[in-house]
Amino acid sequence: MNQSVDFQDFIDEVIQKNDIVDLISRYVTLKRVGNRFQALCPLHNDKKTPSFSVSPDKQLFHCFGCGAGGTVIHFIMAKENLDFMEAVKLLAERAGVPVPDQRSAAEKNRAAQIHEKKKRMYAMNAEAARFFFNNLIATENKKALDYLKNRKLSNATIKNFGLGYAPDSWSTLIDYMKEKGYSEEELAEAGLAVKRENGTFFDKFRDRVMFPIIDLRGNVIAFGGRIISDKENAPKYLNSPETLVFKKKENLFAMNIAKNSKEGQFLLMEGYMDVISLHQNGFDNAVASLGTAFTPQQADLLKRYADKAVLCYDSDEAGQKATQRAGEILREAEIKTKVLKLNEGKDPDEYIKLKGPEMFRFSLDNAESFIEYKIHSIEKKYNLEDTVEKIEFIEQIAKVFANIKNDVEREVYIKKIARETDVSPDNINVRVREIARKSQKIEASRELSREKRQFEERTGGRSDLEKMKLYNAEKLLLNLICEKDVFKAVGNQLSPADFSEGLHRRLAEIIFETLGKGEKINPAAVISLFESSELGLVSEILSDDKNVDNRLEAVKMPLRIVLEHKRKIADEASVQGGDAAKLQEIMDRLKKEKK
Ligand code: UTP
Ligand code: MN
Repeated sequence: MNQSVDFQDFIDEVIQKNDIVDLISRYVTLKRVGNRFQALCPLHNDKKTPSFSVSPDKQLFHCFGCGAGGTVIHFIMAKENLDFMEAVKLLAERAGVPVPDQRSAAEKNRAAQIHEKKKRMYAMNAEAARFFFNNLIATENKKALDYLKNRKLSNATIKNFGLGYAPDSWSTLIDYMKEKGYSEEELAEAGLAVKRENGTFFDKFRDRVMFPIIDLRGNVIAFGGRIISDKENAPKYLNSPETLVFKKKENLFAMNIAKNSKEGQFLLMEGYMDVISLHQNGFDNAVASLGTAFTPQQADLLKRYADKAVLCYDSDEAGQKATQRAGEILREAEIKTKVLKLNEGKDPDEYIKLKGPEMFRFSLDNAESFIEYKIHSIEKKYNLEDTVEKIEFIEQIAKVFANIKNDVEREVYIKKIARETDVSPDNINVRVREIARKSQKIEASRELSREKRQFEERTGGRSDLEKMKLYNAEKLLLNLICEKDVFKAVGNQLSPADFSEGLHRRLAEIIFETLGKGEKINPAAVISLFESSELGLVSEILSDDKNVDNRLEAVKMPLRIVLEHKRKIADEASVQGGDAAKLQEIMDRLKKEKK
């Protein structure tokens, strides 16, 4: 890329006009902690400790868990899975900054090709959806429409969801689409056709009712197809494979509609038919994950529109297991979750048909919280009349409680279980705390080994205590001397060459040069001078996550460590110059230090 001055100005403006706190809080809830914000990392599956940090002053983010970090641009790249220019463009559009076109011809070409391909795939899918719809309403395929009518779907619903029918044939769709100018190869890439070993193609969906999957911008990105006549060995539902435009884990069925719901919460279901049936009954907030388990990415997607959800999974064992897993994922995303109990019918579709929409709403309003659901499912497993089982019951419950972050919520539940078991709340609380502490310890030891691994990855050397100490001291020192006052106080005792690690040295050079000229450090600009593989480390160093009150005080310790190392190196150098007495002295000192 041609990094001209104009272009750099443009990037700076994009960063400046997209406040990082504002942007990131669209994805996760940020909690203010001193002069920075904290959250569970939206870029990796962050469990308990909020390892993600955002600095409003420096306009940088950094995650201590997954090591990601950088400016708003890097955040969008990671979160939306975009390349640098795509992310910049998105942010430029968002802030109304005009985009200068600086790409090389080859780059333009490649980006244009992908863009073109995506556009064509959307058009292809839309065309296929139209084809399926027209087949559904064609008289010769009456059985398909009959099937949907039998399932009580209205014409309006069929139209709203763009349902369709794929005929019982190996090539009707292929023939139709070829006529429209699409090649078989393209159809296979879009997941609509399948290539045989011998190089010929056949329609993927045959004799199935079709459910188009539509993204938030209204593009048809994939299909689900339900079998309507008995066939041996055919799965009930067949889904599109992952394609250039379809990422299963990141989309939810009917989210294109549900995102506009006024309900303030989402209803999460297992099946296409459940969702459609609920929408027909006035619940426009129902969505389903697409034939796979609910994912953290899908939780993030929900979170962008509401922070409440009700799990309405099937009443069978598989549905209950899925409820447990989805519930945990929603809890981690800090979405307030309830669980709907279906006391009649096997799934929400049957339930609402049996009970009607008013009763359904009543059941929703009275649904238990996910925690209560967990408590009840544990209760079912134990006989509380039996002493041994009662103790085990409390142990299991305590594990659940140890995960509740909100103190009040935890207390309420502890009291409730205390009453039920006739064990004092204090004793239950002691156990809950023990378990919580233990899991914190495990977390902490994971943290340490993570730090070691990171060190080894970055330096290519084995970590020992001494090296880690120096390495961490250099990082802290670099962070602290970015401040003018600190630089003034200690900068003259140091030079960039005193940093042992290559990247640290380069960063120090930039800091010394900038502050030496009396200019201020602009972290977002500094970061843009590094390779993308170095971003994580640079953002970590520059981030405000150091928990220091008094910088002038805090700088003393890392400064001492770095200066001591410098002296040691100097000593060793003079030994190589031939000073035998000095050699002995150093050997002695090193021996002492080792001990
Ligand atoms: P269900 O069988 O509960 O779906 O499977 P449903 O929508 O209630 O189906 P019917 O029409 O009322 O019988 C739940 C979901 O799991 C996926 C589909 O997304 C389905 O909607 N699934 C199920 C598959 O992907 N493949 C299968 O073979 C079955
Ligand atoms: Mn069903």
